[in-house]
Amino acid sequence: MDKIKIRGGNSLSGVVEVSGSKNAALPILFSSVLTDELCVYKRVPDLQDIHSTLVLLKYLNIDCEFKSEQHEAQLKANCVNKHEAPYDLVRKMRASVVVLGPLLAKYGKAKVSLPGGCAIGARPINYHLSGLEKLGAKIQLENGYVIASCKRLRGTRVCLEFPSVGATENIMMAATLAKGETVIENTAREPEISDLACALRAMGAQIEGDGTERIFVQGQTSLHGCQYQIMGDRIEAGTYLAAALATKGCIEVTGINTKHLEAVLKKLEKTGAQIERKENAVLLRSPKKLKSVNIVTSPFPGFPTDMQAQFMVIMAIANGISHIKETIFENRFMHVPELIRLGANIIIDGNMAIIHGVKNLIGAPLMATDLRASASLIIGALCAEGESIVNRIYHLDRGYEKMEIKLRALGADIERIL
Ligand code: UD1
Repeated sequence: MDKIKIRGGNSLSGVVEVSGSKNAALPILFSSVLTDELCVYKRVPDLQDIHSTLVLLKYLNIDCEFKSEQHEAQLKANCVNKHEAPYDLVRKMRASVVVLGPLLAKYGKAKVSLPGGCAIGARPINYHLSGLEKLGAKIQLENGYVIASCKRLRGTRVCLEFPSVGATENIMMAATLAKGETVIENTAREPEISDLACALRAMGAQIEGDGTERIFVQGQTSLHGCQYQIMGDRIEAGTYLAAALATKGCIEVTGINTKHLEAVLKKLEKTGAQIERKENAVLLRSPKKLKSVNIVTSPFPGFPTDMQAQFMVIMAIANGISHIKETIFENRFMHVPELIRLGANIIIDGNMAIIHGVKNLIGAPLMATDLRASASLIIGALCAEGESIVNRIYHLDRGYEKMEIKLRALGADIERIL
């Protein structure tokens, strides 16, 4: 199993370009189920989660070609002969549940494994299911599977109990082929939702209001093929900025819409970092001393839960005490015991982490537990004195393209070992 070896202490400097957004690309690839025609997607990141998505799409008998060097995926779903997402595929990547809405809307049937819990929490899909039921789907749970069927879905009003990203995506995709208008309320406002809405509009869907808490979808009888370019990955961008700050570096991150990162940039500024917002890039210069800053994670436009673990490393070496409150996932502090092994002083109290900044971290062997936790361990190791080995790096490969190569180009002493 691959590991990453890091000799910490080098300040990062230079320019790094982010890849296409993983969390936008996944539902967009699944949206190709909604048409028989060819969909061509550009800036698709070469990640394990993308390969898992393509395995599922191929299983449904969709014609898939992924040119990973060019980051282009071509998908044609004109011969779908299965309507099922089996346990083994959903278990590997829970985002596969967003295939439910498109399959149901296009074929009137879908069988999708319930995803079960994961390292960061229980993560049920009840909001997805009740939304689809409101659109007219019949849903049964049998042997760990969701079995859904319908004639044609009917437009209706769906109000989400919580602005869930996945539920918003599933319901919005299903509504594109429903009869009449669907109004989805209390929707997630994450930029990935708008990127999916743009990709669906490129297929002829009529969607308004994405990016706000109310989305209107006028159902169509069919959608057509498209060409669409995926947005830049705001979480990857935030991760490199956090790594630069933790190592007292100075970097420019390119290929992102800086508006998508505003909550993170504001908090980085509060630590003392100088941030320059450019058209599609951010330049970060580190301060001499890091100030501690409190964080509460919340749905967009709040501070993203996907940046919580990385930000915690900065707080671990900042001056003073900071509080980080996690409100989205109930078990998202798996990185804390590992950061403590690097010498961090962190206490967990329910959904709050209390961090007493220490002078410096010291290298240690580490174990990654989930995607963003892995990123925080890499950042911890980059700023720690001496050598660290990060184990179970397959979590990182799910969501960061060529991370060690990008970090090495910024001056990090990092290598992948077997
Ligand atoms: C997506 C992102 C993930 C990010 C999260 C929050 C993808 C592939 N993943 O995950 O990186 O951390 O948004 O920004 O885009 N919930 C329910 N019932 C449901 C749905 C959600 O109780 O039916 C709960 C979840 O357990 C969680 C919270 O709502 O506590 C938010 O989940 P949600 O926004 O749905 O996250 P995901 O779409 O799974």
